[in-house]
Amino acid sequence: MALMQDLDFGTAFPAGEATVTLTIDGRRLSVPPGTSVMAAAAMIDRAVPKLCATDSLAAFGSCRLCLVEIEGRRGTPASCTTPVDAGMVVHTRTPRLQKLRRGVMELTISDHPLDCLTCSANGDCELQTQAGAVGLRDVRYGPDGASHRAAPTDASNPYFTFESSKCIVCSRCVRACAEVQGTFALTILGRGFDSKVSPGGADFLSSECVSCGACVQACPTATLNEKTVIATGTPERTVVTTCAYCGVGCGFKAELAGDAVLRMVPDKGARANDGHSCVKGRFAYGYATHKDRMLKPMIRKRIEDPWREVSWDEAIGYAASELRRIQSEHGRNAVGAISSSRCTNEEVFLVQKLVRAGFGNNNVDTCARVCHAPTGFGLSRAYGTSAGTQDFKSVDKADVVMVIGANPTDAHPVFAARLKRRLRAGARLIVIDPRRIDLVRSPHVAADQHLALRPGTNVAVLTAMAHVIVTEGLVDEAFVAERCDAGNFESWARFVAEDRHAPEAVAEATGVDPAEVRKAARLYATGGNGAIYYGLGVTEHAQGSTAVMAIANLAMATGNIGRDGVGVNPLRGQNNVQGSCDMGSFPHEFSGYRHVTDDAARETFERMWGVALSSEPGLRIPNMMDEAIEGAFKGLYLQGEDIAQSDPDTKHITAGLKAMECVIVQDLFLNESARYAHVFLPGSSFLEKDGTFTNAERRISRVRKAIEPLAGKADWETTIALAQAMGVSMPYAHPSAIMDEIAATTPTFRGVSYARLDALGSIQWPCNDAAPAGTPIMHVDRFVRGKGQFMLTEYVPTEERVGPRFPLLLTTGRTLSQYNVGAQTRRTANVAWHAEDVVEIHPFDADERGIVDGDLVAVQSRTGEIALPARVSERVQPGVVYTTFHHPITGANVVTTDNSDWATNCPEYKVTAVQVRRTNALSAWQQQDRDEAIRLRRIEGAHVDAAE
Ligand code: SF4
Ligand code: SF4
Ligand code: SF4
Ligand code: FES
Repeated sequence: MALMQDLDFGTAFPAGEATVTLTIDGRRLSVPPGTSVMAAAAMIDRAVPKLCATDSLAAFGSCRLCLVEIEGRRGTPASCTTPVDAGMVVHTRTPRLQKLRRGVMELTISDHPLDCLTCSANGDCELQTQAGAVGLRDVRYGPDGASHRAAPTDASNPYFTFESSKCIVCSRCVRACAEVQGTFALTILGRGFDSKVSPGGADFLSSECVSCGACVQACPTATLNEKTVIATGTPERTVVTTCAYCGVGCGFKAELAGDAVLRMVPDKGARANDGHSCVKGRFAYGYATHKDRMLKPMIRKRIEDPWREVSWDEAIGYAASELRRIQSEHGRNAVGAISSSRCTNEEVFLVQKLVRAGFGNNNVDTCARVCHAPTGFGLSRAYGTSAGTQDFKSVDKADVVMVIGANPTDAHPVFAARLKRRLRAGARLIVIDPRRIDLVRSPHVAADQHLALRPGTNVAVLTAMAHVIVTEGLVDEAFVAERCDAGNFESWARFVAEDRHAPEAVAEATGVDPAEVRKAARLYATGGNGAIYYGLGVTEHAQGSTAVMAIANLAMATGNIGRDGVGVNPLRGQNNVQGSCDMGSFPHEFSGYRHVTDDAARETFERMWGVALSSEPGLRIPNMMDEAIEGAFKGLYLQGEDIAQSDPDTKHITAGLKAMECVIVQDLFLNESARYAHVFLPGSSFLEKDGTFTNAERRISRVRKAIEPLAGKADWETTIALAQAMGVSMPYAHPSAIMDEIAATTPTFRGVSYARLDALGSIQWPCNDAAPAGTPIMHVDRFVRGKGQFMLTEYVPTEERVGPRFPLLLTTGRTLSQYNVGAQTRRTANVAWHAEDVVEIHPFDADERGIVDGDLVAVQSRTGEIALPARVSERVQPGVVYTTFHHPITGANVVTTDNSDWATNCPEYKVTAVQVRRTNALSAWQQQDRDEAIRLRRIEGAHVDAAE
């Protein structure tokens, strides 16, 4: 595929009917009111030269290159800032205009280093292109006068340089940072000749810049340019694909030279991101070719033995024979598998098929177990589907946004940029979070209410909001009467109206000022379109499912469901966590969330696969580990998940893995779980395979192979090989055939095919005969389950309580530059922003313990102890400490407990009672872990995770 260039109309097209008719260069055309003359001209292929305009930004009118003549008007107005008028007659190419444009360009070029042949943007530079377009042949002003040619270059950012000698001060970067990203890191300092772009701090790295790349994307010169392009040259070909990091699911154009990815350019046509990106998707793809990638299959009889590199056939044959041996010796249920939300839908579908059709049981689970399983449970109870209700763009119509237990600017940055745009345009904001996340106050954004509740009290706060809504008469009676179960609403309304649910009654438990709860409830209920966005701060609790149901109740009671601008939106963590749930990765559900006891669903698969299937739900991840320790569960196929690092209560997980006879790890790297593995099967990155991911909007997007699998097999091919070695038929030549089988067996995917995905770009499920192009907004006329169900949400305090021994509550989360357990991002230059995990502690608690910023502190819970540096910060409230879990040495999950959600077993990561004290050494666990790593390094030679 050749390099794909985006069309740029200079200014955006407003929505609306084409009712304004005008004439441009003799051609009549009609466009919507508010369209600029520049965009209208571009529409009929009469593109006007431009420099400061680009259609992702508001028109600015500074470069004066886009001048046009308009009959009846004086002068030569800038076409980018001039809206069309009915009857307007425009000329874009008169001799006068050409002369003027040449003059403008000549002035610009006179202060530009004329080193085009050796410039990194040679052939990919708008300035160069526009100089050609205006016919510049001569620059009369010589190089002798004052110029910026000696201006310095800032190379501090790991991914791009700022070569200020090439800057034409068009301000596109400054505006991109403000308008698109909302960080406002850049400014123009000085006036006239002295004006220059400044990143505020000493340089880009030390500034507020979050390295989203929007400025690089907007820059029309080589001033802001990717270091990969500077080092290598311009790319040769483009492959359109989808980011493999978070649940926003941004579309990218992977631009390559040969097999080397030179840059990931956010795709303007991708509806999840509209051409925006964050530092992870845009720049942190280097892990895919990192030297730590394991490219050879390996086996060993015992985990104490060194690894032995073998052929694919030998590794697959050994894995298959071990799984079969275990089943014959210990029974059919002694083996299982864990699928990964980083793998494609097709790969996940194959893993659960292997388990159900090949292992003959339902022992399959997925990492959603530890994140959004309560979302599936809670939303399906209330509404009938296990997914968010809106598309991302719906937030553009929201009047009040409530963000609960989510930190979008760090974990879902591209959605956060969109949300901040809406907030800057006037939408109101309620944040419910123990921590003062960036959204609470950032440039031009401030929350109306920040309910800084105690970790573990979401249900109390949400039910208190419901109390206010019911007792103050704020229920949308018409919506409830028409759309919800009446009897069920009545009993819920009586329940929440009880005095014990009043904000005042729960204030002691929640720590939130009741007046603020009342204000927040009133604002959400009466402020117009109310939209809720929530994250793992809701689900990863002992009452995770109850909190999801409490959110669903609030939206129904206020009529905030079923149209643009409202809804209940889980912000999914991993790129394909929605998809891995949709594909039947749970031990009790087939694809499309049909229970394994559902005879009709089971028969569908039995017919398709030609085998009898078990109707007995299988084991969840924690149960697999319990049974392994008890000796009943002996074999595990672990595709792309590092449960030894990412799951709670690490000691329990590693004890379970150690107890097994055959652990098969399929991964890019020798991860923590691989320490306990007997078979290692090399994984493939998203660049090496075809497939689809489904993002948090239920949007199914294509992942396209950009390079051949480095280890010889894509993950889907590996699962097929394992299945076939076990005698399970999987006759797929391409992932599109797997999708055809998914569509044939899964009602919500009935209309999905690669051909339709290619035609439409992406599809939001349900996609079927009733909605062939997909469903952006759900529950429009009726809930999927019929009448909406209000659920009683009794607040039950978590068993994890503070006391004299453990007086602080630890909660965990992510940071922008790192992703999950860091296996990918730690292997990129993103470590420049987050080289280690720290524990945030309030100054009051720090003082009490004699802790100062940077001290090594021990964090001890009833399950274990870790040591990490302290950061004294008022982002956390007194009594609460916070850390991330991106580095294995941190071992955050050594201290988290085995408490879990009552309905789904989702771990209670967000609440752990701890004590914090100064220390001068790593914890015993960390030292032991380090010793173990060194011991394994000796055994395994080079085959050890270098990140250790
Ligand atoms: S990379 Fe993003 S945050 Fe940084 S200056 Fe550019 S636009 Fe702003
Ligand atoms: S850095 Fe690029 S986008 Fe920014 S003002 Fe200079 S030329 Fe324009
Ligand atoms: S927001 Fe998420 S999907 Fe988009 S580029 Fe960043 S990590 Fe990738
Ligand atoms: S493009 Fe219109 S003034 Fe710069």
